[in-house]
Amino acid sequence: MTRRPAASAPGRTVAFEDHQKIGVEKWVARRADRRPGVARDRLGGSAAANRDAVHRLAFGGNPTRTTGRRFGSPASGYNRAGDHQRNDLPLPSPDLKQITAQTLAYYNQRAEEFRDGTKNHDVRQNIDALLRHIPGLPPFTILDLGCGPGRDLKVFASLGHRPVGVDGAERFAQMARDETGCEVWQQDFLRLDLPDAYFCGIFANASLFHVPSAELPRVLRQLHASLKPDGVLFCSNPRGDNVEGWNGERYGAYHDLERWREYLTDAGFVELEHYYRPTGLPREQQPWLASVWRKPAP
Ligand SMILES: C[S@@+](CC[C@H](N)C(=O)[O-])C[C@H]1O[C@@H](n2cnc3c(N)ncnc32)[C@H](O)[C@@H]1O
Repeated sequence: MTRRPAASAPGRTVAFEDHQKIGVEKWVARRADRRPGVARDRLGGSAAANRDAVHRLAFGGNPTRTTGRRFGSPASGYNRAGDHQRNDLPLPSPDLKQITAQTLAYYNQRAEEFRDGTKNHDVRQNIDALLRHIPGLPPFTILDLGCGPGRDLKVFASLGHRPVGVDGAERFAQMARDETGCEVWQQDFLRLDLPDAYFCGIFANASLFHVPSAELPRVLRQLHASLKPDGVLFCSNPRGDNVEGWNGERYGAYHDLERWREYLTDAGFVELEHYYRPTGLPREQQPWLASVWRKPAP
């Protein structure tokens, strides 16, 4: 695998529209917002009953048929107190393989549909939030983690930067190469192979929520290692009440700000800013949590 990004890449500025909408994820986030009035009432029971209640709130249906894990529950392998220990019941590796395979199959099977449905999504606010914190003079070497069909690679290239894409879905990786001329590495988030201290910034737009919580600390440490000192990580994810599991054919983990901060801080990052999207709406109508982090120089 050649790691050096293309010196220059053709690109054009895309027209941006409204925020990204992913139906059930948005719904999960909205349900989480109602937690004080609904979920807490239901969470007074046994650990198993609580897990089932959370599952119904987040994913609906029968918890025995799909997996919904609450972080900090005995089934999650994650300690509620914030210790990122893979203690009692971490996800066994066959589960992880299935999570990756099934989630990527979902995207591969809908690659054109996804590209057409998201090509005009307006994420310029997020791109700007990453770029304004990167120190030094451009152009910057930027990793677009989970680049999908390449919409944002094209924007970074059009701004004169040196973007490199990573995506696990074969069809997205090829599409992104074809549409942007950028270098795109096909890699699984759970088996990343990234150069050390190489990137000025990492743009993880709507991608890290696909990493199961048991693996998130390790993945975040890898991203941290691949950033130059003072490099910046941007993340935007559908937020939730710290639940994870199958959302249709995709696996998702939905964190709140407090828990997300614990993960990022434990991985060595320092918070720069956070905000909710779309801008200007009441919080319960802002399903996306965007946050920006620095890898401090030693
Ligand atoms: C919701 S899409 C976001 C795509 C793009 N960043 C955007 O904002 O439109 C999530 C992306 O993460 C990728 N992805 C999901 N799970 C992955 C995994 N385990 N390894 C690598 N890529 C993965 C998918 O292929 C998809 O491109």
